[in-house]
Amino acid sequence: MTRHVFSFPRYLGVGLFGLMIGQACLQAQAQTMPIDSSSSSALPPGIERSAFGQLANGREVDCYRITNDNGIEMRVINYGGIIVSLKTPDLQGQMDDIVLGFDSLDDYLSDAYRRANPYFGALIGRYGNRIANGRFSLDGETYQLPTNDGPNTLHGGDVGFNQRLWHAEPFSSSEGRGLVLTYTSEDGEEGFPGRLSARVSYTLTNDNELAIDYRAKTSRATPVNLTQHSYFNLQGEGHGSILNHELTINASGFTPVNETLIPTGEIADVSGTPFDFRRPTAIGARMGEKNTQLAYGKGYDHNFVLSKNPGAAGHLALAARVTEPQSGRVLEVSTTEPGLQFYSGNFLDGSLTGKSGRAYTHRSGLALETQHFPDSPNQSNFPSTILKPDETYHSRTVYRFSTTQSEGQSRSTQPHSS
Ligand code: GAL
Repeated sequence: MTRHVFSFPRYLGVGLFGLMIGQACLQAQAQTMPIDSSSSSALPPGIERSAFGQLANGREVDCYRITNDNGIEMRVINYGGIIVSLKTPDLQGQMDDIVLGFDSLDDYLSDAYRRANPYFGALIGRYGNRIANGRFSLDGETYQLPTNDGPNTLHGGDVGFNQRLWHAEPFSSSEGRGLVLTYTSEDGEEGFPGRLSARVSYTLTNDNELAIDYRAKTSRATPVNLTQHSYFNLQGEGHGSILNHELTINASGFTPVNETLIPTGEIADVSGTPFDFRRPTAIGARMGEKNTQLAYGKGYDHNFVLSKNPGAAGHLALAARVTEPQSGRVLEVSTTEPGLQFYSGNFLDGSLTGKSGRAYTHRSGLALETQHFPDSPNQSNFPSTILKPDETYHSRTVYRFSTTQSEGQSRSTQPHSS
Protein backbone atom coordinates (compact mmCIF):
# COMPACT_ATOMS: atom_id res chain seq x y z
CA MET A 1 0.00 0.00 0.00
CA THR A 2 1.45 3.35 -0.93
CA ARG A 3 1.60 6.77 0.68
CA HIS A 4 -0.11 6.45 4.01
CA VAL A 5 0.90 3.03 5.17
CA PHE A 6 4.29 2.67 6.68
CA SER A 7 6.19 -0.49 7.23
CA PHE A 8 5.56 -1.04 10.93
CA PRO A 9 8.96 -1.50 12.61
CA ARG A 10 10.72 1.19 10.58
CA TYR A 11 8.51 4.17 11.31
CA LEU A 12 6.47 3.45 14.34
CA GLY A 13 8.37 1.12 16.54
CA VAL A 14 7.09 -0.87 19.41
CA GLY A 15 5.52 2.14 21.15
CA LEU A 16 2.58 2.55 18.82
CA PHE A 17 1.99 -1.18 18.66
CA GLY A 18 1.86 -1.29 22.43
CA LEU A 19 -0.49 1.67 22.41
CA MET A 20 -2.83 -0.01 19.97
CA ILE A 21 -2.85 -3.23 21.92
CA GLY A 22 -3.50 -1.14 25.02
CA GLN A 23 -6.39 0.54 23.30
CA ALA A 24 -7.76 -2.83 22.23
CA CYS A 25 -7.65 -3.92 25.89
CA LEU A 26 -9.34 -0.74 26.98
CA GLN A 27 -11.98 -1.35 24.38
CA ALA A 28 -12.58 -4.91 25.54
CA GLN A 29 -12.91 -3.51 29.05
CA ALA A 30 -15.32 -0.85 27.83
CA GLN A 31 -17.56 -3.52 26.39
CA THR A 32 -18.11 -5.04 29.82
CA MET A 33 -18.39 -1.98 32.03
CA PRO A 34 -20.08 1.40 31.87
CA ILE A 35 -17.88 3.93 30.15
CA ASP A 36 -17.83 6.32 33.10
CA SER A 37 -15.83 3.84 35.17
CA SER A 38 -13.00 3.85 32.60
CA SER A 39 -9.81 5.79 33.10
CA SER A 40 -11.36 8.79 31.34
CA SER A 41 -13.46 9.87 34.35
CA ALA A 42 -11.25 12.87 35.14
CA LEU A 43 -11.69 15.06 32.10
CA PRO A 44 -9.06 17.53 30.94
CA PRO A 45 -10.05 21.22 31.11
CA GLY A 46 -11.98 22.28 28.01
CA ILE A 47 -13.69 18.90 27.64
CA GLU A 48 -17.08 17.99 29.10
CA ARG A 49 -19.00 14.77 28.86
CA SER A 50 -22.75 14.22 29.02
CA ALA A 51 -25.18 11.41 28.31
CA PHE A 52 -26.52 11.42 24.76
CA GLY A 53 -28.89 8.45 24.84
CA GLN A 54 -29.12 4.71 24.86
CA LEU A 55 -28.85 2.20 22.03
CA ALA A 56 -31.45 -0.54 21.56
CA ASN A 57 -29.06 -2.98 23.29
CA GLY A 58 -28.98 -0.76 26.39
CA ARG A 59 -25.48 0.62 25.87
CA GLU A 60 -25.03 4.26 26.74
CA VAL A 61 -23.82 6.82 24.24
CA ASP A 62 -21.77 9.77 25.49
CA CYS A 63 -21.36 13.22 24.05
CA TYR A 64 -18.06 15.09 24.45
CA ARG A 65 -18.02 18.87 24.19
CA ILE A 66 -14.55 20.08 23.30
CA THR A 67 -13.61 23.75 23.12
CA ASN A 68 -10.42 25.49 22.10
CA ASP A 69 -9.01 28.73 23.55
CA ASN A 70 -10.74 30.80 20.86
CA GLY A 71 -14.21 29.52 21.66
CA ILE A 72 -14.54 27.08 18.78
CA GLU A 73 -16.64 24.23 20.07
CA MET A 74 -17.32 20.76 18.74
CA ARG A 75 -19.49 18.01 20.12
CA VAL A 76 -18.73 14.39 19.29
CA ILE A 77 -20.54 11.22 20.28
CA ASN A 78 -18.92 7.81 20.60
CA TYR A 79 -21.67 6.24 18.48
CA GLY A 80 -20.21 6.33 14.96
CA GLY A 81 -17.66 8.93 16.09
CA ILE A 82 -20.28 11.40 14.90
CA ILE A 83 -19.50 15.11 15.03
CA VAL A 84 -22.93 16.38 16.03
CA SER A 85 -22.07 20.07 16.09
CA LEU A 86 -19.22 22.44 15.33
CA LYS A 87 -19.44 26.14 16.13
CA THR A 88 -17.13 28.64 14.47
CA PRO A 89 -17.21 32.45 14.23
CA ASP A 90 -18.29 34.42 11.17
CA LEU A 91 -16.82 37.78 10.10
CA GLN A 92 -18.68 39.56 12.92
CA GLY A 93 -17.53 37.02 15.45
CA GLN A 94 -20.95 35.38 15.65
CA MET A 95 -20.74 31.68 16.42
CA ASP A 96 -22.87 29.36 14.31
CA ASP A 97 -23.08 25.62 14.04
CA ILE A 98 -21.71 24.77 10.59
CA VAL A 99 -22.36 21.02 10.39
CA LEU A 100 -25.58 19.12 9.80
CA GLY A 101 -26.74 16.81 12.57
CA PHE A 102 -29.07 16.18 15.47
CA ASP A 103 -29.27 16.81 19.18
CA SER A 104 -30.72 13.45 20.07
CA LEU A 105 -29.54 9.90 19.52
CA ASP A 106 -33.04 8.84 18.49
CA ASP A 107 -32.78 11.06 15.44
CA TYR A 108 -29.65 9.17 14.34
CA LEU A 109 -31.43 5.85 14.94
CA SER A 110 -34.80 6.69 13.37
CA ASP A 111 -36.29 4.88 10.39
CA ALA A 112 -36.41 8.17 8.48
CA TYR A 113 -32.66 8.57 9.03
CA ARG A 114 -31.92 4.99 7.95
CA ARG A 115 -34.00 5.49 4.81
CA ALA A 116 -32.19 8.72 3.89
CA ASN A 117 -28.82 7.25 4.94
CA PRO A 118 -26.84 10.52 4.84
CA TYR A 119 -24.05 9.45 7.26
CA PHE A 120 -24.14 12.91 8.91
CA GLY A 121 -20.82 13.67 10.61
CA ALA A 122 -19.82 10.02 10.98
CA LEU A 123 -16.60 8.07 10.77
CA ILE A 124 -16.70 5.86 7.71
CA GLY A 125 -15.13 2.41 7.49
CA ARG A 126 -13.90 -0.06 6.73
CA TYR A 127 -14.13 1.23 3.21
CA GLY A 128 -15.25 4.76 2.39
CA ASN A 129 -17.33 5.06 -0.79
CA ARG A 130 -18.23 2.19 -3.10
CA ILE A 131 -16.93 -1.26 -3.92
CA ALA A 132 -18.45 -2.54 -7.18
CA ASN A 133 -20.96 -5.35 -6.70
CA GLY A 134 -19.68 -5.64 -3.13
CA ARG A 135 -16.99 -7.97 -4.36
CA PHE A 136 -13.21 -8.07 -4.58
CA SER A 137 -10.44 -10.64 -4.79
CA LEU A 138 -7.38 -10.66 -2.59
CA ASP A 139 -4.60 -13.23 -2.32
CA GLY A 140 -6.53 -15.67 -4.49
CA GLU A 141 -9.79 -15.45 -2.53
CA THR A 142 -12.99 -13.68 -3.52
CA TYR A 143 -14.86 -11.79 -0.83
CA GLN A 144 -18.56 -10.90 -1.04
CA LEU A 145 -19.72 -7.98 1.09
CA PRO A 146 -23.33 -6.99 1.80
CA THR A 147 -24.60 -4.67 -0.93
CA ASN A 148 -26.39 -1.63 0.48
CA ASP A 149 -26.38 0.83 -2.42
CA GLY A 150 -28.02 -0.74 -5.47
CA PRO A 151 -25.60 -3.43 -6.66
CA ASN A 152 -22.67 -1.97 -4.69
CA THR A 153 -21.31 -1.73 -1.15
CA LEU A 154 -21.23 1.80 0.22
CA HIS A 155 -19.30 3.10 3.25
CA GLY A 156 -18.46 -0.27 4.76
CA GLY A 157 -21.72 -2.19 4.27
CA ASP A 158 -24.94 -2.65 6.21
CA VAL A 159 -23.42 -1.79 9.60
CA GLY A 160 -20.37 0.32 8.94
CA PHE A 161 -18.14 2.12 11.44
CA ASN A 162 -20.72 4.92 11.43
CA GLN A 163 -23.10 2.65 13.39
CA ARG A 164 -20.61 1.18 15.85
CA LEU A 165 -20.12 2.21 19.45
CA TRP A 166 -16.51 3.32 19.82
CA HIS A 167 -14.48 3.53 22.98
CA ALA A 168 -13.64 7.18 23.68
CA GLU A 169 -10.69 8.62 25.59
CA PRO A 170 -10.53 12.42 25.91
CA PHE A 171 -7.08 13.98 25.97
CA SER A 172 -5.26 17.27 26.13
CA SER A 173 -1.86 17.56 24.45
CA SER A 174 0.50 20.27 23.23
CA GLU A 175 -1.37 20.11 19.90
CA GLY A 176 -4.82 20.63 21.35
CA ARG A 177 -7.77 18.93 23.01
CA GLY A 178 -9.57 15.98 21.65
CA LEU A 179 -10.81 12.48 21.70
CA VAL A 180 -9.24 9.17 20.75
CA LEU A 181 -11.81 6.71 19.46
CA THR A 182 -11.04 3.02 19.15
CA TYR A 183 -13.00 0.19 17.64
CA THR A 184 -12.03 -3.38 16.80
CA SER A 185 -13.75 -4.83 13.78
CA GLU A 186 -13.69 -8.62 13.99
CA ASP A 187 -12.37 -10.84 11.21
CA GLY A 188 -15.23 -11.28 8.75
CA GLU A 189 -17.26 -8.29 9.93
CA GLU A 190 -19.35 -7.06 7.01
CA GLY A 191 -17.55 -9.65 4.90
CA PHE A 192 -14.07 -8.12 5.20
CA PRO A 193 -11.05 -10.30 6.01
CA GLY A 194 -8.84 -9.62 9.03
CA ARG A 195 -9.41 -8.35 12.54
CA LEU A 196 -8.97 -4.62 12.19
CA SER A 197 -8.11 -2.40 15.16
CA ALA A 198 -8.99 1.16 14.25
CA ARG A 199 -7.94 4.21 16.22
CA VAL A 200 -9.10 7.66 15.19
CA SER A 201 -8.20 10.86 16.97
CA TYR A 202 -9.98 14.18 16.70
CA THR A 203 -7.80 17.10 17.86
CA LEU A 204 -9.18 20.62 18.12
CA THR A 205 -6.19 22.95 18.05
CA ASN A 206 -5.78 26.57 19.14
CA ASP A 207 -4.97 27.34 15.49
CA ASN A 208 -8.67 26.64 14.85
CA GLU A 209 -8.07 23.33 13.19
CA LEU A 210 -9.70 19.99 13.55
CA ALA A 211 -6.98 17.42 12.89
CA ILE A 212 -8.08 13.85 12.31
CA ASP A 213 -5.61 10.98 12.47
CA TYR A 214 -6.77 7.59 11.34
CA ARG A 215 -4.72 4.53 12.31
CA ALA A 216 -5.36 0.84 11.89
CA LYS A 217 -3.70 -2.53 12.18
CA THR A 218 -4.96 -5.79 10.75
CA SER A 219 -4.42 -9.50 11.37
CA ARG A 220 -4.83 -10.36 7.63
CA ALA A 221 -4.52 -8.37 4.41
CA THR A 222 -7.67 -6.30 3.90
CA PRO A 223 -8.85 -3.15 2.12
CA VAL A 224 -9.07 -0.06 4.35
CA ASN A 225 -10.24 3.42 3.42
CA LEU A 226 -11.28 5.53 6.40
CA THR A 227 -12.85 8.96 6.19
CA GLN A 228 -15.13 11.47 7.90
CA HIS A 229 -18.56 12.39 6.58
CA SER A 230 -19.39 15.82 7.99
CA TYR A 231 -21.70 17.99 5.91
CA PHE A 232 -20.74 21.65 6.08
CA ASN A 233 -22.88 24.69 5.53
CA LEU A 234 -20.74 27.74 6.29
CA GLN A 235 -23.82 29.95 6.64
CA GLY A 236 -24.90 27.74 9.50
CA GLU A 237 -26.72 24.40 9.39
CA GLY A 238 -30.27 24.67 8.14
CA HIS A 239 -29.61 27.98 6.40
CA GLY A 240 -30.38 27.10 2.81
CA SER A 241 -28.29 25.56 0.09
CA ILE A 242 -24.52 25.49 -0.35
CA LEU A 243 -24.75 26.55 -4.02
CA ASN A 244 -23.31 30.01 -3.25
CA HIS A 245 -20.27 28.57 -1.47
CA GLU A 246 -17.10 29.10 -3.47
CA LEU A 247 -14.99 26.02 -3.81
CA THR A 248 -11.39 25.49 -4.86
CA ILE A 249 -10.10 21.93 -5.28
CA ASN A 250 -6.43 21.37 -5.88
CA ALA A 251 -7.01 18.72 -8.54
CA SER A 252 -6.45 18.58 -12.27
CA GLY A 253 -8.04 15.15 -12.58
CA PHE A 254 -11.11 13.28 -11.35
CA THR A 255 -12.38 9.74 -11.62
CA PRO A 256 -15.50 9.59 -13.86
CA VAL A 257 -18.17 7.08 -12.82
CA ASN A 258 -20.84 4.88 -14.36
CA GLU A 259 -24.58 5.07 -13.58
CA THR A 260 -24.08 3.33 -10.22
CA LEU A 261 -21.25 5.72 -9.26
CA ILE A 262 -18.44 3.19 -9.73
CA PRO A 263 -15.31 4.68 -11.35
CA THR A 264 -14.74 3.66 -14.95
CA GLY A 265 -11.00 3.47 -14.19
CA GLU A 266 -10.19 6.57 -16.23
CA ILE A 267 -8.53 9.60 -14.67
CA ALA A 268 -10.06 12.45 -16.64
CA ASP A 269 -8.65 15.94 -17.08
CA VAL A 270 -10.89 18.55 -15.42
CA SER A 271 -9.94 21.22 -17.99
CA GLY A 272 -12.96 22.72 -19.73
CA THR A 273 -15.43 20.73 -17.60
CA PRO A 274 -17.68 21.65 -14.64
CA PHE A 275 -15.16 19.66 -12.56
CA ASP A 276 -12.46 22.27 -12.89
CA PHE A 277 -12.34 23.88 -9.43
CA ARG A 278 -8.72 24.94 -9.65
CA ARG A 279 -9.92 28.53 -9.30
CA PRO A 280 -12.56 29.51 -6.72
CA THR A 281 -15.97 28.83 -8.29
CA ALA A 282 -19.48 28.92 -6.87
CA ILE A 283 -20.67 25.35 -6.44
CA GLY A 284 -23.94 26.15 -8.23
CA ALA A 285 -22.34 27.96 -11.16
CA ARG A 286 -22.13 24.95 -13.48
CA MET A 287 -24.42 22.49 -11.72
CA GLY A 288 -27.16 22.93 -14.33
CA GLU A 289 -24.91 22.23 -17.29
CA LYS A 290 -25.70 19.28 -19.52
CA ASN A 291 -23.01 16.86 -18.50
CA THR A 292 -23.21 13.07 -18.22
CA GLN A 293 -21.10 12.97 -15.06
CA LEU A 294 -23.26 15.58 -13.32
CA ALA A 295 -26.31 13.59 -14.43
CA TYR A 296 -24.94 10.33 -12.97
CA GLY A 297 -24.03 12.06 -9.71
CA LYS A 298 -27.27 14.08 -9.60
CA GLY A 299 -24.83 16.93 -9.05
CA TYR A 300 -21.28 16.67 -7.74
CA ASP A 301 -20.55 13.28 -6.20
CA HIS A 302 -17.08 12.55 -7.51
CA ASN A 303 -13.59 11.67 -6.43
CA PHE A 304 -10.95 14.27 -7.28
CA VAL A 305 -7.37 13.19 -7.85
CA LEU A 306 -5.43 15.60 -5.69
CA SER A 307 -2.39 17.35 -7.09
CA LYS A 308 0.49 16.96 -4.67
CA ASN A 309 3.90 18.53 -4.69
CA PRO A 310 6.46 16.05 -5.95
CA GLY A 311 7.81 14.07 -3.05
CA ALA A 312 4.95 15.10 -0.79
CA ALA A 313 3.44 11.63 -0.50
CA GLY A 314 2.42 10.94 3.08
CA HIS A 315 2.59 14.63 3.98
CA LEU A 316 -0.23 17.07 4.32
CA ALA A 317 -1.11 19.08 1.25
CA LEU A 318 -3.91 21.57 0.80
CA ALA A 319 -6.74 19.78 -1.01
CA ALA A 320 -9.66 22.21 -0.96
CA ARG A 321 -10.86 25.55 0.24
CA VAL A 322 -14.44 26.73 0.68
CA THR A 323 -15.56 30.30 1.31
CA GLU A 324 -19.07 31.51 1.99
CA PRO A 325 -19.48 35.14 0.91
CA GLN A 326 -22.17 36.28 3.39
CA SER A 327 -20.70 34.92 6.60
CA GLY A 328 -17.10 35.24 5.41
CA ARG A 329 -16.36 31.80 6.82
CA VAL A 330 -13.52 29.85 5.22
CA LEU A 331 -12.84 26.13 5.45
CA GLU A 332 -9.58 24.63 4.27
CA VAL A 333 -8.98 20.91 3.98
CA SER A 334 -5.48 19.44 3.96
CA THR A 335 -4.77 15.77 3.75
CA THR A 336 -2.19 13.03 3.25
CA GLU A 337 -4.74 11.16 1.10
CA PRO A 338 -4.58 11.02 -2.71
CA GLY A 339 -8.31 11.66 -3.26
CA LEU A 340 -11.20 13.86 -2.19
CA GLN A 341 -14.88 13.00 -2.65
CA PHE A 342 -16.80 16.19 -3.21
CA TYR A 343 -20.47 15.45 -2.56
CA SER A 344 -22.89 18.36 -2.94
CA GLY A 345 -25.69 16.92 -0.78
CA ASN A 346 -27.72 15.78 -3.77
CA PHE A 347 -29.70 13.17 -1.85
CA LEU A 348 -30.85 15.59 0.86
CA ASP A 349 -34.54 16.15 0.23
CA GLY A 350 -35.95 17.98 3.24
CA SER A 351 -37.21 14.80 4.90
CA LEU A 352 -34.86 15.24 7.89
CA THR A 353 -35.11 18.10 10.35
CA GLY A 354 -31.92 19.20 12.05
CA LYS A 355 -30.87 20.52 15.44
CA SER A 356 -32.38 23.96 15.06
CA GLY A 357 -35.72 22.67 13.79
CA ARG A 358 -34.98 23.52 10.17
CA ALA A 359 -35.33 20.95 7.39
CA TYR A 360 -32.21 19.78 5.63
CA THR A 361 -33.29 20.59 2.10
CA HIS A 362 -31.72 19.65 -1.23
CA ARG A 363 -28.00 20.55 -1.26
CA SER A 364 -28.08 22.20 2.16
CA GLY A 365 -24.70 20.69 3.07
CA LEU A 366 -21.52 19.63 1.32
CA ALA A 367 -19.09 16.86 2.19
CA LEU A 368 -15.37 16.85 1.44
CA GLU A 369 -14.29 13.30 2.18
CA THR A 370 -10.56 12.69 2.06
CA GLN A 371 -9.89 9.18 0.85
CA HIS A 372 -8.26 6.68 -1.48
CA PHE A 373 -10.24 6.31 -4.68
CA PRO A 374 -13.60 4.49 -4.75
CA ASP A 375 -13.54 0.83 -5.76
CA SER A 376 -9.74 0.65 -5.53
CA PRO A 377 -9.79 -3.07 -4.61
CA ASN A 378 -11.07 -3.69 -8.16
CA GLN A 379 -9.05 -1.05 -10.00
CA SER A 380 -5.42 -2.02 -10.43
CA ASN A 381 -4.36 1.40 -11.72
CA PHE A 382 -5.54 3.20 -8.54
CA PRO A 383 -3.28 3.53 -5.47
CA SER A 384 -3.65 0.39 -3.39
CA THR A 385 -5.92 0.32 -0.35
CA ILE A 386 -4.70 -3.05 0.90
CA LEU A 387 -3.36 -3.01 4.45
CA LYS A 388 -1.08 -5.89 5.38
CA PRO A 389 -0.43 -7.26 8.87
CA ASP A 390 3.11 -5.89 9.00
CA GLU A 391 1.94 -2.36 8.20
CA THR A 392 0.19 0.40 10.12
CA TYR A 393 -2.42 2.47 8.35
CA HIS A 394 -2.03 6.17 9.07
CA SER A 395 -3.85 8.95 7.31
CA ARG A 396 -4.21 12.54 8.45
CA THR A 397 -6.69 15.24 7.48
CA VAL A 398 -6.89 18.77 8.84
CA TYR A 399 -9.95 20.99 8.55
CA ARG A 400 -9.03 24.60 9.25
CA PHE A 401 -11.64 27.23 10.10
CA SER A 402 -11.10 30.94 9.51
CA THR A 403 -12.79 33.94 7.91
CA THR A 404 -11.94 35.99 4.87
CA GLN A 405 -10.69 38.68 7.26
CA SER A 406 -8.65 36.57 9.66
CA GLU A 407 -7.14 34.51 6.90
CA GLY A 408 -4.41 36.93 5.91
CA GLN A 409 -3.43 37.48 9.54
CA SER A 410 -3.08 33.92 10.73
CA ARG A 411 -0.60 31.30 9.71
CA SER A 412 -1.33 29.09 6.73
CA THR A 413 -1.75 25.36 7.10
CA GLN A 414 1.68 23.95 7.68
CA PRO A 415 2.70 20.60 6.28
CA HIS A 416 2.86 18.16 9.15
CA SER A 417 4.76 14.99 8.72
CA SER A 418 2.89 11.87 9.65
C1 GAL B 1 -21.33 10.11 -0.16
C2 GAL B 1 -21.51 9.40 -1.45
C3 GAL B 1 -22.90 9.71 -1.98
C4 GAL B 1 -23.96 9.38 -0.96
C5 GAL B 1 -23.60 9.99 0.38
C6 GAL B 1 -24.52 9.55 1.49
O1 GAL B 1 -20.08 9.84 0.38
O2 GAL B 1 -20.52 9.79 -2.36
O3 GAL B 1 -23.15 9.03 -3.18
O4 GAL B 1 -24.06 7.99 -0.85
O5 GAL B 1 -22.31 9.65 0.75
O6 GAL B 1 -25.84 9.88 1.24
